Amino acid sequence: MSPAPALYNAIVLDHFLNPRNVGDVPQAEALGEAGEPNCGDAMRLSLRIKHGRIVDARFRTVGCGAAIASSSMATELIKGRTLEEARHFSNQEVVAALGGLPPAKVQCSLLAGQALQAALEDYEKRRPGGRARGRTGR
Ligand code: FES
Repeated sequence: MSPAPALYNAIVLDHFLNPRNVGDVPQAEALGEAGEPNCGDAMRLSLRIKHGRIVDARFRTVGCGAAIASSSMATELIKGRTLEEARHFSNQEVVAALGGLPPAKVQCSLLAGQALQAALEDYEKRRPGGRARGRTGR
């Protein structure tokens, strides 16, 4: 297979051809899924969370090169972040870290942010007395 070098820069190609953090976190504390209805691509994100911080993140993405590269970069970016920092994570950060995506492919990076937010909501639901959104707020 020969990727189109004119479409994707070297960072994107690297994360597409050598994606980081593929798989599932064993006994994950949070799971999040997201899908792109227009193309059918989908991402599943699993997280290990300790002391309010993401210590591991793995993904499985069925999708285009931009979606896989974005998933890979997103897992690299969110590891080590606090839950509060992760709540403010956006796909624009992924696009910037990748050195940009072709304009028509920027929407493919949305999967990563959506899967992360879904995982954070899942984490809150799993906590004793947890809610779908929000913080402990005692
Ligand atoms: S074409 Fe579906 S996420 Fe890229």
